[in-house]
Amino acid sequence: MKDVKILAIETSCDETSVAIVKNGREVISNIISSQIDMHKRFGGVVPEVASRMHLEAINNIVDEALRQGNMTLEDVDAIAVTKGPGLVGALLVGISEAKALSFATKKPLVGVNHMKGHICAAYITHKDLEPPFVCLLVSGGHTYLIHVKNYNDMEVIGKTIDDACGEAYDKVARCLGMQYPGGPQVEHFAKLGNEKAIDFPRVMLDKDSYNFSFSGLKTAVLNYLNSKKQKGETIIKEDVCACFQRAVFDVLIFKTEKLLKEKKIKTLVVSGGVSANNTLKEEIEKMCRRNGFKSYFPEKILCTDNAAMIASSAYYEYIDGVRSELSLNVEPNLEL
Ligand code: KG4
Ligand code: ZN
Repeated sequence: MKDVKILAIETSCDETSVAIVKNGREVISNIISSQIDMHKRFGGVVPEVASRMHLEAINNIVDEALRQGNMTLEDVDAIAVTKGPGLVGALLVGISEAKALSFATKKPLVGVNHMKGHICAAYITHKDLEPPFVCLLVSGGHTYLIHVKNYNDMEVIGKTIDDACGEAYDKVARCLGMQYPGGPQVEHFAKLGNEKAIDFPRVMLDKDSYNFSFSGLKTAVLNYLNSKKQKGETIIKEDVCACFQRAVFDVLIFKTEKLLKEKKIKTLVVSGGVSANNTLKEEIEKMCRRNGFKSYFPEKILCTDNAAMIASSAYYEYIDGVRSELSLNVEPNLEL
């Protein structure tokens, strides 16, 4: 079969990224321009600022991705873009750029679900990985347990009913005076703390449910911090981080292990921003070794937002004949 090279654009949140990927798995170029330094000043992503920064960066980043790939638009087979979920104004910048490129070059357009992209990030890192598998998708906006039956066929088995996993990390970090995004810092301090020091709740919901809830845990951490402050007692942030993270992992790992057993599936993919957490990776690997399962994590740079994963997802849709119209619109609340 002829090689398929897809140029993909990702602007759903605070990274402007453009990538070119061959046959869904081979990265030719993957440029990621992060806005984190700007958003840090405000303690989180400011949507209006994000849109403006995407707009300023996007043309240069498309050029850079082509330049690094030693290619022109003529060498590309299709243009892919994240259509949702994400911030409406941020998504619009990417979609407008992709439509313009598709219209000008007459190359097909493929609109991609960002969350599907996060799953596909693992295909790039692990060339042997194929469905079926279970995917634990833990990002800043979503938390999903998914049965991936085939490249374009998946069933959501569980999801968060309130806060996403990464969102809980960011909120706890903020209350501890750490900068956005909080995940990497909470991970760092957790390594130095005692995970038995404070008893935070593990919210399992119904015993048969694969859904998640992190808002109770977040509130418990905030209440603990407030009560310590009121009493004038010292807060050991290492212990708070360690105990918060332990509570998160206990729930994630319990439900993931249960689903793998129930579905009799031995392959697990963990993806999304929180999968960049080394401690989570070690704990998941331990659970997999105990059960004879195999776990796959994307390499770090592909755990958080990037366009290579969007190109990979677009490839599997493209070879299935999926095309988007030029009337493609943003879907900020798109679900899997
Ligand atoms: O997938 P992602 O880049 O963006 C969304 O699609 O939401 O995820 C970003 C989230 C943030 O909440 C960030 O704090 C979290 O991933 N994150 C981490 C780590 N690195 C990033 N959470 C825990 N530990 C980390 N090392
Ligand atoms: Zn993401």
